[in-house]
Amino acid sequence: MRHLLDTKTLSREDALQILDVAEDMGDTQRREVKKLPTLRGKTVVNLFFEDSTRTRISFEAAAKRLSADVINFSAKGSSVSKGESLQDTAQTLQAMAADAVVIRHSASGAPRTLATSGWISAGVVNAGDGTHEHPTQALLDAFTMRKRRYGADSRGRDLEGLRVTIVGDILHSRVARSNVWLLHTLGAQVTLVAPPTLIPQDVTAWPARVGYDLDEAIADAPDALMMLRIQAERMNASYFPTEREYSRCWGLDPERFAALPRSTMVMHPGPMNRGLEICAEAADSPRSTVLDQVTNGVSVRMAALYLLLAGERPAPVDHDSDAK
Ligand code: CP
Repeated sequence: MRHLLDTKTLSREDALQILDVAEDMGDTQRREVKKLPTLRGKTVVNLFFEDSTRTRISFEAAAKRLSADVINFSAKGSSVSKGESLQDTAQTLQAMAADAVVIRHSASGAPRTLATSGWISAGVVNAGDGTHEHPTQALLDAFTMRKRRYGADSRGRDLEGLRVTIVGDILHSRVARSNVWLLHTLGAQVTLVAPPTLIPQDVTAWPARVGYDLDEAIADAPDALMMLRIQAERMNASYFPTEREYSRCWGLDPERFAALPRSTMVMHPGPMNRGLEICAEAADSPRSTVLDQVTNGVSVRMAALYLLLAGERPAPVDHDSDAK
């Protein structure tokens, strides 16, 4: 794998390889092997033009656990605020011999531009671009669903037949787009539920069903219910329902949470607007995977960096020899 830019073009084979390597990485973390030497001498640059907590920190943790050197760059406080272009920023990184660049950018397509422009020779990982895609988020979500479904027996498995409902601001959500493509590739059935004004026009080309009624979706007893953040910062108030209306019609409130089957996983990529799209009872319940998603994000990002920079699946962890 040379770059990880989206899930729309990610093959089933590559997706399963990332998930399986992430299982291996998770095993090393559970065994409290704090660091693996595999990326010693490599440099990973985290290039964040938009705010992030989970993604930036987990890419940094992932790279450090693989013994790579990490350079963190955020647009705030950099020469980007003086008008420096993406090309000049990228060429500066090239001069610093970056081996991988993890980029988050407000412009959809910025990671692909970086990967294909010839400005840099590094592998590029998309950490979220505009309203386009957030592939490592979808991979960690799929990893989390697979783990809840199959436990220690997850390796090599896809998500055939899993019924996943994604609720909320689909229009602005790169997480929704990446999840729809990846879940489809892995055999899951996806339903999107949102106010009509927050469904993108091209949704008819997506491999997903569309609905507008959250109560109907809950009565359908999905295996996973993924609540999305309302992205007020990308929204024009004229097409957004009021917060009160949104919460009443599309929020996972205590009554709706009580109506969900006990087997349904409650997911959220974070950051959450508690009380708007999800209530505390749901977010903090044992059925919530919110913190598992964060933990699994480190394993999945270790796997992505490993496959980009080392190129092949590492040897399986030998638990027996470790115990001797
Ligand atoms: N889920 C996610 O991308 O969170 P951050 O914006 O905090 O990275």
